[in-house]
Amino acid sequence: METQSKMIEITKTKNSRINEVDFDNLSFGKVCSDHMMICDYKDGKWGTPQVLPYGPMPMEPSSKVFHYGQAVFEGMKAFKDEDGKVWLFRPEQNFNRINISAKRLAIPEFPKEYFFEALETILKLDKDWIKPGKGNSLYIRPFVIGTENGVSASPSSEYRFIIICCPAKAYYSSPVKVTIAQQYSRSADGGVGFAKAAGNYAAQFYPTNLAKEKGYQQVIWTDANTHEYLEECGTMNVFFRVGDKLLTAPTNDRILDGITRKSIIALAEDDGVEVEVRRVAVKEIVEAAKNGELKEVFGAGTAATIVPFLGFDFNEEYYELPKVENSYGSKFKTKLQDIQYNMAEDKFDWRYEV
Ligand code: COI
Repeated sequence: METQSKMIEITKTKNSRINEVDFDNLSFGKVCSDHMMICDYKDGKWGTPQVLPYGPMPMEPSSKVFHYGQAVFEGMKAFKDEDGKVWLFRPEQNFNRINISAKRLAIPEFPKEYFFEALETILKLDKDWIKPGKGNSLYIRPFVIGTENGVSASPSSEYRFIIICCPAKAYYSSPVKVTIAQQYSRSADGGVGFAKAAGNYAAQFYPTNLAKEKGYQQVIWTDANTHEYLEECGTMNVFFRVGDKLLTAPTNDRILDGITRKSIIALAEDDGVEVEVRRVAVKEIVEAAKNGELKEVFGAGTAATIVPFLGFDFNEEYYELPKVENSYGSKFKTKLQDIQYNMAEDKFDWRYEV
């Protein structure tokens, strides 16, 4: 141990890897910054968080997470403004959500003061890993895993909360083509769809691979019961612009309560756009595409920010979206990033200075 913060043990790296990184050619999530945080839960309580050099951590093959998937995570970003100040975007939302996810997977809640102290500590140590300029960020991945050894199918009695960070540029380098799910489902009523549970992502990989074979990068998931209503898309919530209205599905136990999603709703309403948060039928979107009322579809998420869709496939038919002037997607992306990068007034009080 080298330094003691208020509540964290800090060991700084002696060999920064920052000079080995090509920040102009980053593959999302491949490179991690110099420091990480680990905090272990044992005997019914969280121990002292430790910030230490990023690196491998030994685990026993019988660790419960490998067998029963007790793992939840978050995605956040740190941004640097032109004066070198570092900002987080609505971090209390991520903190609340990881504990909501944790509860659903029978994982103990993590203390708020540890979360924020750890984030601040890592971001101060690794501030040079955050490059200024729109599109550049440090993607922050907090996650928690069941670490008790033993393959009996019961909740782990031990956990590790970890925070790692990856310098990032755009998650999708260009607009995407998507397909609407008619066979596979991402989540079910009473399930874990609302949680950022690792298994929710694993379950999408196979059907998404099938979609990719047909030339679509992502799947828009539909409700598992009828496949008649559009829900979320891969790693994103999804918005439809029909005429001048913006439509998006309401969150429920199948849909992630996306922070970018709720920020776009607020920005759009503030801009005078009528937003309808309601079930969006596949049929109505296909109809709107046919009669020219469907102007835009875009995905929204922390990693992706806002990604326009080029078109979508339904029932083996491809519907190309028109090129619109005054795109809502690009307008609200600009408004969102202006707030994130401290380039605009923060009227919603979303920015958090590190
Ligand atoms: C995020 O937007 O932070 C996500 O969770 C996407 C991630 C799975 C890459």
